Amino acid sequence: MQNTPTDQRQIEALLDFFTSAGVDCFLGDEQVDWFARTREAARVQPDQGRPGPQQVSQILPGSSAGRDGNRSQARLDPQARLDPQTQFDPRAQSAPQARAPGTGPAAVLPDGEVIAAARDLAARASSLAELQACLETFDGCNLKLTAKKLVFADGNPQARLMFVGEAPGRDEDLQGKPFVGRSGQLLDRMLAAIGLDRSSAYIANVVPWRPPGNRTPTPQETEICKPFIVRQIELVKPDVLVFLGAASAKTLLNEKDGIRKLRGRWMTYPAGGREIAAIATYHPAYLLRSPLEKRLSWRDFLAIGQKLSG
Ligand code: URA
Repeated sequence: MQNTPTDQRQIEALLDFFTSAGVDCFLGDEQVDWFARTREAARVQPDQGRPGPQQVSQILPGSSAGRDGNRSQARLDPQARLDPQTQFDPRAQSAPQARAPGTGPAAVLPDGEVIAAARDLAARASSLAELQACLETFDGCNLKLTAKKLVFADGNPQARLMFVGEAPGRDEDLQGKPFVGRSGQLLDRMLAAIGLDRSSAYIANVVPWRPPGNRTPTPQETEICKPFIVRQIELVKPDVLVFLGAASAKTLLNEKDGIRKLRGRWMTYPAGGREIAAIATYHPAYLLRSPLEKRLSWRDFLAIGQKLSG
């Protein structure tokens, strides 16, 4: 390839650029022109360019797509794959790198179908272990391609108190557990301040895979992951639910207000036919940047402690 940097400083600068752009994992050492491959596949056997039930079910194992391939196939747009230069779908671009060479590009499902399949899959999980297993096999969220581990939960599933954060960061991705980095350590100290620890709380995130470079999950990624956290809350059945930060509060409460308006007041969250006492508070990462706000979080944590003992 022309313009390939050979000078060490240029290579370092390029790597630096990639990491700051969120490229944080190595996918392969051969350059692959996926556009050319897709064009070639379409030219040789146009019918094979269409995603069949098998390919769809690889993306959404257990989904209706897998059980009823024809229905889903009819709704898929073959142009999405046959004309990649006019259509950019991040899942379409990154999906081929997740599969074995020569198996052809993955099916591109419109987000609405992926969300419906995620709902279907999550609703069928009858235990936390089943839900975790569903997520391990669910390939409908592109974040899974760059994340190292699924970050499902930490703490005690029998606990009366459940926290929901936004998405894992680097430390969480490495360990496969939520809130184990600096914000997690602050969360532990806040829990200790009201006489609790991780054995008396259950902790999860709206999005269970780390977004590359710790970027904010896109609205599509959040919507695709939402059915799983909704089901997780239903299965844990906490008495008190705490949203850590605006993202989790807004996603799960369908609220537009910012965290300043939402935090510190008791609301109810409907789950599995029950109304759970719910409260939003500042995200520990925000408190690390704005320590003065800790006094308001302290009030929220006192209220949480009182609610649990009331
Ligand atoms: N921030 C979150 O929202 N979740 C984590 O697990 C870690 C940091």
